[in-house]
Amino acid sequence: TEVIPTRGPLRGRHVVVSAGGTREPLDPVRFLGNRSSGKQGYAVAAAAAARGARVTLVTTADLQLPTGVESVRVETAQQLRAAMLEHFDSADVIVMAAAVADFRPADYVDTKIKKGMAPGDDSAPEIRLVRNPDILAELVRHRGDAAGPVIVGFAAETGDAKASVLEHGRAKLERKGCDVLVVNEVGSDRTFGKDENTVHLLLQGSSRVEDVGPADKRVIADAIWDLVETLV
Ligand code: CTP
Ligand code: CA
Repeated sequence: TEVIPTRGPLRGRHVVVSAGGTREPLDPVRFLGNRSSGKQGYAVAAAAAARGARVTLVTTADLQLPTGVESVRVETAQQLRAAMLEHFDSADVIVMAAAVADFRPADYVDTKIKKGMAPGDDSAPEIRLVRNPDILAELVRHRGDAAGPVIVGFAAETGDAKASVLEHGRAKLERKGCDVLVVNEVGSDRTFGKDENTVHLLLQGSSRVEDVGPADKRVIADAIWDLVETLV
């Protein structure tokens, strides 16, 4: 039997979390994907449920569902967008932890793409991409000036020659307009698929930065809720 907390700081709140990397199909057997495992999003959902929230997890991943969490399976950015908009009106908090593909193949072919078999034919197809909708920015626009859910974004940043992880994060918080941005330090051997994470929590309209980690993704999730709880 499931034990759903009836007490806790998020009691009576509806939290909607997206998790995992979207898969953008090319043909029935192939897709464009990314390295997101979904673990951080699941940890955020589990922590919210433990604090008494009703939790809807919109996910592309197949991880074990945390106790008391209801899931909606999606595959593509467009499906994820539709699911987030569907739950927008009832949400008190929305957390966009999903790694949404920025681009998708322009054309889906509903039969398997075959290579040419003629002797000497070594041609390869060119795959044209188009932009996916920016779901986080759209949710913020959708809320407008009206009262609405607290909106939390994630940012995967490596830092580069132009700017540090934190500078990229600040610019992204400004651009997206969400209330909190969880800036994730990523790199080839960091974060993806791992149980630990290092993040910086940025709050809209504040110059304060809270550094968390390296720590278990559950610890990161609790730090996120400690901050977000003060906003709901
Ligand atoms: N996001 C989204 N829709 C997209 C792309 C990203 O909702 N099409 C959300 C992610 O879920 C995350 C946040 O936006 O919460 C930041 O994602 P990220 O990939 O770091 O930012 P981008 O704006 O896509 O910028 P870039 O990848 O160029 O750094
Ligand atoms: Ca992106």
